[in-house]
Amino acid sequence: MRLKRTVTCGQLTTKNIGEEVILNGWVAKNRDHGGVIFLDLRDRYGKTQITFNPDLDAKMADRAKRLGMEDVIAIKGMVTARPGGNVNANLPTGEVEVIVSELEVLNEAEPLPFLVSDRESGNEELRLEYRYLELRTSELQNFMKIRSRTYQSARRLLNAEGFMEFETPVLMKSTPEGARDYLVPSRIHQGKFYALPQSPQTYKQLLMIAGFDKYFQIVKCFRDEDLRADRQPEFTQIDIEMSFIDQDDIMGLATRVTQGIFKEVLDYQLPETFPVMDYHDAMEIYGSDKPDIRFELPLIEFATYAEKTEFSVFKDNLAGGGRVKALILKNAADHYSRKILDELTEWLKTYYGLKGLAFIKVEQGAFAAGISKFFSAELQTEIIGNLALKDNDIMFFVSDDEARTLQALGALRIELAKRENLIPETDIKPLFVTNFPLLDWDEDSQRYIAMHHPFTSPNPEDIELMTSDPGKVRARAYDLVINGYEVAGGSIRIHTRQMQSRMFELIGMDEEEANARFGFLLRAFKYGAPPHGGIAFGFDRLIMLLAGTDNIRDVIAFPKTTSAASLMDDAPSFVDEDQLRELHIKLME
Ligand code: AMO
Ligand code: AMP
Repeated sequence: MRLKRTVTCGQLTTKNIGEEVILNGWVAKNRDHGGVIFLDLRDRYGKTQITFNPDLDAKMADRAKRLGMEDVIAIKGMVTARPGGNVNANLPTGEVEVIVSELEVLNEAEPLPFLVSDRESGNEELRLEYRYLELRTSELQNFMKIRSRTYQSARRLLNAEGFMEFETPVLMKSTPEGARDYLVPSRIHQGKFYALPQSPQTYKQLLMIAGFDKYFQIVKCFRDEDLRADRQPEFTQIDIEMSFIDQDDIMGLATRVTQGIFKEVLDYQLPETFPVMDYHDAMEIYGSDKPDIRFELPLIEFATYAEKTEFSVFKDNLAGGGRVKALILKNAADHYSRKILDELTEWLKTYYGLKGLAFIKVEQGAFAAGISKFFSAELQTEIIGNLALKDNDIMFFVSDDEARTLQALGALRIELAKRENLIPETDIKPLFVTNFPLLDWDEDSQRYIAMHHPFTSPNPEDIELMTSDPGKVRARAYDLVINGYEVAGGSIRIHTRQMQSRMFELIGMDEEEANARFGFLLRAFKYGAPPHGGIAFGFDRLIMLLAGTDNIRDVIAFPKTTSAASLMDDAPSFVDEDQLRELHIKLME
């Protein structure tokens, strides 16, 4: 190219008036005002108006007129003040324009599948197919800038705290525990496979054993699991591990890193300390282990009242060890028509396995509609008094086994808050959730599974329970939750061979299997393993919060769809017979 840029499209101001400059960029707008051609030239730094005057060069003005959107050009020209009426106060470069003296067309663009200036002009599938064009939109340019600043900020903060950065293998041993592994067949070792890491969990523990007491890595993780709006099959973690520490040290570090990032990237001041909530309270009050505490709307215990009703669903569930809990929406009963209530009920039945959603409305100081007929007049008065109910309040009830009751009502809490606009969208409310159970009973495999992962240490106070009542053992695990997203999770680890073997046993892994899968770790514990623990941030989720989007695909340059496909390069794809043969793989019919 002949004309190489001397300035970017985002930097010229009145200070530059009178300078001759060269700009390179994309045509973002092309207007013809009675023969004078005004183009907006765009690069990642901004936009500058460039002007072609036919009185100066009629041929060049004519070429400029025919330039299309997203053509790549270079121009030389003089920075001039825009005439008063043409000043654009919304643009940093809005007080100047460049009067063009030379034009070089670097590459023409074909008509575009959607408008770069209007992201909504294409549906998401089309935009993912042409992701490099979507990445030119101002939204995605901004998200990628936030992402880039966050990498730098995380590195700077952790470096200042004395952490060492590592890389750990991407081809590792398959140790499925949690999500499904992505497997990579070995050509050299016939019939054997590597796995892509679900996280570098075992490696970072081995680095603690190796003496690197403060480790971090910004690392890709791979999980073959069902995807959602905040999940991708490959995603990034800021992975952290420390030795000779306790839970408070890790939570303190995670607090400082989060504060630092929000300050450096958004200039947003998070609170000095983040509140800490017990897992049990999070479930009982918010119906979620990742509560959104930007708004109240607590789940209310309703068992004692439910006992006094004539509603057999409640009484039967309570008798069977189930629960009854409720939500109260103040002064909103008139927003809930039969139709809307039916929709909410169907949604809870479909996604949360509920049998129904019960409600009452308060009218003229008494219960009306829904299941009001099951409440005696005295009971109604008692409840209205105790819960300070007023006319036009609506109360929702869910009754099922404990897990379903809490989960469904927690989901309803969020849904109702959205409908009623109760969520202050610009607030950022972090908290730690701690004291998770160590184990979770898995109905499918009829065994306990590790709630976090099997390297998590039980709470020393609960060691006895490991024998008597394993389901009650608390873990030394903690999550960082922001605005209803699990942003980071971690734990203090088991660091002795005996306890690790005990844990494997509890999750139904016999000694042989434990040795086959994790023998390397058990062996390492024999040679002086320090007490250690750590945490991993879901980097993409952090960026979602920083960027203010609820779609994880927005913050990843080349994301996958919910069916784990890349529409741009068409991955995954079939491979040649030869490739398969080399890998000793034969596809099943
Ligand atoms: P965990 O499995 O909780 O812990 O993962 C840590 C954080 O990673 C994010 N995350 C995801 N983000 C996008 N897509 C996904 N599919 C996805 N899965 C998880 C979440 C989560 O909080 N090795 C442990 C950490 C430790 O114990 O130190 C681990 O991986 O934000
Ligand atoms: P029924 O007496 O079965 O017609 O139920 C009366 C109301 O209670 C309906 O609105 C149902 O949706 C609701 N309901 C039924 N089962 C449950 C349950 N397990 N929890 C909460 N509400 C329920």
